[in-house]
Amino acid sequence: MLKTHTCGELRPEHAGQSVTLAGWVFRRRDQGGVIFIDLRDRWGIVQVVVNQENAPDAHKAADDARSEYVLMVKGVVRLRPEGTVNDELETGAVEVGVEHIEILNESKVPPFYLNQDVEIEERVRMKYRYLDLRRPKMQRNMIMRHKVVKFIRDYLDERGFLEIETPILFKTTPEGARDFLVPSRLNPGTFYALPQSPQQLKQLLMVGGYERYFQIARCFRDEDLRGDRQPEFTQLDMEMSFVQRDDVMALIEGLMIAVTEQVAGKTPKYKPFPRITYTEALEKYGSDKPDLRYDLAAVDISDIAARSSFIVFQQNAEAGKPIKVMRAPGYAAKMSGTEMRKVMGELETMARGEGAKGLAYLAIGDTLESEVKGPAAKYFSVDQKAELFERVGAEPGDILLFVSDVREVVYNVVDKLRRHLAGVLNLADPEEVAFGWVIDFPMFYWNEDEKRWDPSQHMFTMPLPEDVALLDTDPGKARGSQYDLACNGYEVAGGSIRIHDRALQEKIFPLIGQTLEHARDQFGHMLEAFEYGVPPHGGLASGIDRLVMVLLAEPNIREVIAFPKTQTGSDIMANCPTPAEPRQLEEAHIRVVPVPEK
Ligand code: AMO
Ligand code: AMP
Repeated sequence: MLKTHTCGELRPEHAGQSVTLAGWVFRRRDQGGVIFIDLRDRWGIVQVVVNQENAPDAHKAADDARSEYVLMVKGVVRLRPEGTVNDELETGAVEVGVEHIEILNESKVPPFYLNQDVEIEERVRMKYRYLDLRRPKMQRNMIMRHKVVKFIRDYLDERGFLEIETPILFKTTPEGARDFLVPSRLNPGTFYALPQSPQQLKQLLMVGGYERYFQIARCFRDEDLRGDRQPEFTQLDMEMSFVQRDDVMALIEGLMIAVTEQVAGKTPKYKPFPRITYTEALEKYGSDKPDLRYDLAAVDISDIAARSSFIVFQQNAEAGKPIKVMRAPGYAAKMSGTEMRKVMGELETMARGEGAKGLAYLAIGDTLESEVKGPAAKYFSVDQKAELFERVGAEPGDILLFVSDVREVVYNVVDKLRRHLAGVLNLADPEEVAFGWVIDFPMFYWNEDEKRWDPSQHMFTMPLPEDVALLDTDPGKARGSQYDLACNGYEVAGGSIRIHDRALQEKIFPLIGQTLEHARDQFGHMLEAFEYGVPPHGGLASGIDRLVMVLLAEPNIREVIAFPKTQTGSDIMANCPTPAEPRQLEEAHIRVVPVPEK
């Protein structure tokens, strides 16, 4: 080894020891005869001091060194002189008096500062990701990710799970996105699909008798990217035999609590995790992955609004469109009248962006009886206002926001407003972690364009036992035995109990617009397997990237992935995707059709 110690480990008890360190120049201060260098390696930073008089050759090297040069340093650890202890560094009580320095590698001037906490343009960070990864924050994130994955492996191993790898070159495993295809050279004109998840394979492992499986599995989905989505991402994928819904949920809940407490050093806000139904989640929070760090629930006031003098509300109530109120606690008290009109105008624009036709509001003064202002005020009588305030738990200084439309629009507006208000009212503590289960999803969503049902999770989810009959009579009402885990407004996991019966599985295909022929062609191996003694089984997958992102309170999934893709699915460091060589295309029997010009 070119080092005897790491930069991060030196402490007062090392004083007097001769050490060899190796790492990067993080900071360098030249004070004439003495040069101070903060030397950094993966374990931390330590100050090394080079004195021209004692070590002229080392001083010459330190004089040549610049930011991010790689050095090997030999010297003696000593306590820092009185008054120069640096509390911000873990090694801040000591320094190394240098005897010898060897420059192992030089560095060009980095395109951004690694030693300052300044905003760096994302494109530059991505182009020079290997430099970005040197920053202490990125190192912290990578270390946390490693620890989370290691913890999960140990936790599941202790509970009898086996990690089994499944193929990357496989056939379509739909999870609602497009597949990435890989041409087969050996079988011209045919393609593998990269797995959107190991869903079918883990079910086949249950048929194979493994009973408790997990995998830290790479998944591939060709879909539009967002702050919490990558085209390739990592799941903790798991499956169990002879279980019911509560068994899987209990195991994962135990794991999530343990990871949060023992790895991230935080305590989940709710233990046990609350469970809410899909319908309740949408009605209250407008989302099936609500942020439960704060309340801000929408309250249905359709009955009161129907009696108001606002024609829009009367008509909507008549037509069965809900009227809901969101209470922004203390928001009116924070603003002047002019400011309020401007801010409310912006909120209305936001609501319109989600399809709403308006956003009436009502601002409450110093008491519940005084100076009620805003466009909605005049439509409610004194008694109706009192009833309204009681219903929504209004307090002086609040603003009440009224949303009314078809349910989907109301949900979207409520979700958007909730997230926005939580931000401006500072309701979401970034350090808090609030898990919550969402259960009883509908089996299907209606796809109006294609005039068919789409599975709300995937086609292998078992209906709730009491809803199986609805598949024949009213599939839209059938609920699935699905469970999703939400955390701080993200979906961090989802799973279900599976169908393990060929006849029931075959019933799903026509509902989701697949002919039985096509289904047998695509999933014949599953259907066939279902005829050979299949244990009842179920499982779940958790997005590791998202989980780590939430545990670290990072706002974007790219912060926890070493080499992520940008919003357009490209890697601007390596410059990919790129056109293939003509020879490669020929071998794969592929002809590229030029993109038509617009
Ligand atoms: P699902 O599709 O819900 O379920 O995926 C499980 C979890 O994976 C994460 N996730 C993603 N993370 C980053 N980028 C993406 N593009 C992305 N897509 C999904 C989410 C999500 O909760 N086979 C089923 C699981 C099962 O039924 O056992 C599945 O894949 O955190
Ligand atoms: P007025 O100024 O009296 O016409 O009040 C109309 C108010 O109601 C405005 O603030 C609109 O934004 C709001 N509004 C109109 N349609 C709706 C709707 N469907 N839901 C909620 N608010 C609405």
